Amino acid sequence: MDTKQEKNEKLYKILTYGCQMNVHDSEILAGMLNQMGYGEAAVEEDADIILINTCSIRDKAEQKVFGKVGALKKLKAIKNDLVIGICGCMIQQQKVAERLQKDFPHVDLLFGTHNIHQLPQMIEKVLFKDERVLEVWNEEGEVVEGLPRLRDDGVTAWVTITYGCNNFCTYCIVPHVRGRERSRNPQDIVKEIEGIVAKGYKEITLLGQNVNSYGKDFDEDYDFADLLSEVAKIKELTRIRYMTPHPRDFTEKLIDVVAANDKICNHFHLPVQSGSSKVLKAMNRGYDQQTYLDLVGKIKEKVNDYSITTDIIVGFPGETEEDFLETLKVVEQVRYDSAFTFAYSPREGTPAAKMDTQIPQQQKSDRLQRLIEAQNKISRQINDTYVGQVWDVLVEGTSKNDPNSISGRTKTAKIVNFNGDKDLIGQEVKVKITGSQTWSLTGEIID
Ligand code: 5AD
Ligand code: SF4
Repeated sequence: MDTKQEKNEKLYKILTYGCQMNVHDSEILAGMLNQMGYGEAAVEEDADIILINTCSIRDKAEQKVFGKVGALKKLKAIKNDLVIGICGCMIQQQKVAERLQKDFPHVDLLFGTHNIHQLPQMIEKVLFKDERVLEVWNEEGEVVEGLPRLRDDGVTAWVTITYGCNNFCTYCIVPHVRGRERSRNPQDIVKEIEGIVAKGYKEITLLGQNVNSYGKDFDEDYDFADLLSEVAKIKELTRIRYMTPHPRDFTEKLIDVVAANDKICNHFHLPVQSGSSKVLKAMNRGYDQQTYLDLVGKIKEKVNDYSITTDIIVGFPGETEEDFLETLKVVEQVRYDSAFTFAYSPREGTPAAKMDTQIPQQQKSDRLQRLIEAQNKISRQINDTYVGQVWDVLVEGTSKNDPNSISGRTKTAKIVNFNGDKDLIGQEVKVKITGSQTWSLTGEIID
């Protein structure tokens, strides 16, 4: 991203919380600000506009935002013409938006997830009419195509294929703040990816709350597996990933397309959420333990060199010790490469928050700790098996912990750090794995 700081140029800073969908929205916000003549500020203190793109998935995420917005009050006090805006999922919840509006009078602009394309008009209102602006559509409009966007680096890019979610898992706020599921046209998606590839990007991740229900809103028969096959035909594209698939919608056709196509990464992120069929039912997940394990079995049977990762929630209302042990059993049986693990966080407006069988915080924390320990052991054991093997690694940049080495991922999404020239960024290289940790691998390039 260019960080232009020429004299007199107006600058923005966007602070993004939460998931890739928000990162994607922030790239569009940055693109629009760029078109309006704003450059990116290196630090908040230099900015003329600060936008905070918020997340509601768990209480912790919201608390962070309240803290941040409060802290910006000082900056506004010394820089009167600073514009502060808050957007994203928190604004889609009426009570939260009202609280932000009431408690933080130094905030000029609040807008929801369905309004981001109106940013230029909203900023104009704040600047020239000196108004506080609150713009929240409760209904999602048509998918807006052709918005400018400013992407982050030159190797991997994210491309949204669906907006919203129709699942209504009983713990989840997403369908309430992101609206009903809408699929983009395949032609628009392919065109966008061709443009990205022409700029030199090597890998794309197709993005949606539930990517593999893509196309269910079309009249014609066209599904996610069809889209993957089509995208795989784009010549200069090296790798395709997708996030997040739903286990219920993971068809055999989709497994076959992934297995048959070398460009489509054989990393399967299959959020199980719980191993107990009783809890899965209460979560409204649409599968039970056995159907989930059958799906995993099919993947293991049909795909070579796969990796499987997951999301798990502990302490969902009514979860007994036996239910939790079922989750541990699934973890042991599937042997996930890694897992995102969460303690259940009640979200106002969702059915699970009203259930009268809430689990005490201490119990949630204990279970989370036990789960993390079990999973970490497995992650480490799997990573150990990589040592001595040779993998193709797409180099994405310099290593986080050591700026003198470079870093990339295998098709199975393992992070590998190794010595190498920065010129290799963007290339696929053969790396012999020489060491393993719980979260990453180390290696050396072989000729
Ligand atoms: N509490 C805890 N974790 C949650 N997730 C979604 N909603 C909640 C909640 N209310 C987790 C799920 C989902 C991931 C993105 O966040 O595991 O897959
Ligand atoms: Fe939330 Fe479930 Fe939709 Fe994922 S599939 S966004 S967990 S409602």
